[in-house]
Amino acid sequence: FAFTSENRAWAEAQMTKYPEGRQASAVIAILWRAQEQEGWLSRPAIEEVARMLDMAVIRVLEVATFYFMFQLQPVGKRAHVQVCGTTSCMICGAEDLVAICKEKIAPRPYQISEDGQFSWEEVECLGACSNAPMVQIGKDYYEDLTAESFSGLLDKFAAGEVPRPGSQIGRFASEPR
Ligand code: FES
Repeated sequence: FAFTSENRAWAEAQMTKYPEGRQASAVIAILWRAQEQEGWLSRPAIEEVARMLDMAVIRVLEVATFYFMFQLQPVGKRAHVQVCGTTSCMICGAEDLVAICKEKIAPRPYQISEDGQFSWEEVECLGACSNAPMVQIGKDYYEDLTAESFSGLLDKFAAGEVPRPGSQIGRFASEPR
């Protein structure tokens, strides 16, 4: 793994934001950039981030494994769907969303769809409980889902569209950006 020159310059700029000796504070931002470049965080990418920040690889791995936003194995190129399965979402229909994932993407979490474009996993609460059930795709939240609306969302992604994120029933908390 090697950062592109643009990404390396960006990462080095992040490191200068912290006092001398505290460059490890940039670890989340730089891991995120590595993931954006590669699509997921490979072991060589984690090692490269550790080297840049003068951190032990295990310390970088601790961060990367703590947050759902980091993927430690390859995911679908078009979208990795994270279905919240915690209490509010579970009560409001998360199991139906998981069933759609199994049907339309792949039978098991982290299994990549046959066309290589999609993968899914179930995650813990993403903090949008009042608009349950919901999923995160990339940086976006899709909320107030039903099996039908979620299935439609996946169809739009498959067609190359990026559906409007936020509440899918137009609730006030999710005004268009
Ligand atoms: Fe699903 Fe909190 S329980 S967002």
